[in-house]
Amino acid sequence: MNNFKKIFSIALITIVFFISGKLTAQKYEGLALTPPMGWNSWNKFACDIDETLIKEIADAIVESGMKDAGYIYVNLDDCWHGERDSLGFIHPDPERFPSGMKALADYIHSKGLKIGIYSCAGYKTCGGRPGSRGYEYQDALTYAKWGIDYLKYDWCNTEGLCAEGAYMTIRDAIRSAGRPMVLSICEWGDNQPWEWGKDVGHLWRTTGDITNCFDCFVDHGTWKSWGVTYILDMQEGLRQYAGPGHWNDPDMLEVGNGMSVNEDRAHFSMWCMLAAPLIAGNDIRNMSKETLEILTNKEAIAVDQDPLGIQGFKYSSEDSVEIWFKPLVNDEWAFCILNRNETDKEFVFDWQKEKVIDELFDKKLDTQNKTYRLRDLWKHEFVGTTDEPLKAVVPSHDVLMLRLVK
Ligand code: GLA
Repeated sequence: MNNFKKIFSIALITIVFFISGKLTAQKYEGLALTPPMGWNSWNKFACDIDETLIKEIADAIVESGMKDAGYIYVNLDDCWHGERDSLGFIHPDPERFPSGMKALADYIHSKGLKIGIYSCAGYKTCGGRPGSRGYEYQDALTYAKWGIDYLKYDWCNTEGLCAEGAYMTIRDAIRSAGRPMVLSICEWGDNQPWEWGKDVGHLWRTTGDITNCFDCFVDHGTWKSWGVTYILDMQEGLRQYAGPGHWNDPDMLEVGNGMSVNEDRAHFSMWCMLAAPLIAGNDIRNMSKETLEILTNKEAIAVDQDPLGIQGFKYSSEDSVEIWFKPLVNDEWAFCILNRNETDKEFVFDWQKEKVIDELFDKKLDTQNKTYRLRDLWKHEFVGTTDEPLKAVVPSHDVLMLRLVK
């Protein structure tokens, strides 16, 4: 072989390897252009799940109007597992899921919904069930055969593992199994997933677990779970990493799980301002009118699901009253006052005097040359314009959430 042929062959082989590497080692794109929306079993039911519950939840998602509002994924969390067979294939718990996962997936798909499942990068899940370590490709293949659309992948029992590598392995396993699945990275922000998650998964948890309280945390000894305001504060500095297809995940919703209505409303509003995945975590078969109204507030959801995909930012904070902004398509903005105090607060905001600039995403709110109408996203009515200062009383642990409409 002459030199030219040698160089040509080497170049060709390199290109082929590069292209095939790219094809097998990429996450499925286009699955989460806006933050994923759905339901997950963990916050309310923990390990107490079975196929009857999951089917009833799927029915309720459709009948309650949640599907119409955008909640599409029905996600099983930990504890669906039975044992691995002699060939290493994982099976669901035969008593709790006697019809098998394929049948459950078919049922959920027949309702026009999608199904999510849970596994863990370690030998065992956090609930002590079989994890995927050493079985990544086999498990991804099994999920693909069952018809799974979404995988939440946890981080218990992973001593000695490199997080980025472990999540790349399951990403590659999903790709080679051939079925598009949203990959939800759940390592609690321990290894800065915002720095490497974009090419690996579609969302990454930024914190430890949420708990159903507004302003407290629960100490479990070796770990803590966090109330809404604690989780909110932990999002500082992360917005630059989020965007269409790759989201910061401040954990699933606790709406309808015991907080007061105004706290639930504030929690939901702030998750919308954060462009967070909206994964309900309550018993939606038996929810109050108020809970349903919060979860299906289409005007608030439109803020979360805005196609620009820009995570909102805290503009100011004084006396535990925070002002948040989120740039939206078409030069519109979402605005939210969060009152973290135990008492109601009066508030004045003069649009003509404030300078609202989002330097990271190069956006500027121009109230000098434009008049925006102020749409109250909870009252569902217009409440003024940016020509006049906004005067409001925001109840304790509640929000005033507006859309600045052109
Ligand atoms: C971890 C996760 C939770 C949940 C449980 C299940 O704590 O962060 O969201 O999945 O495991 O055991």
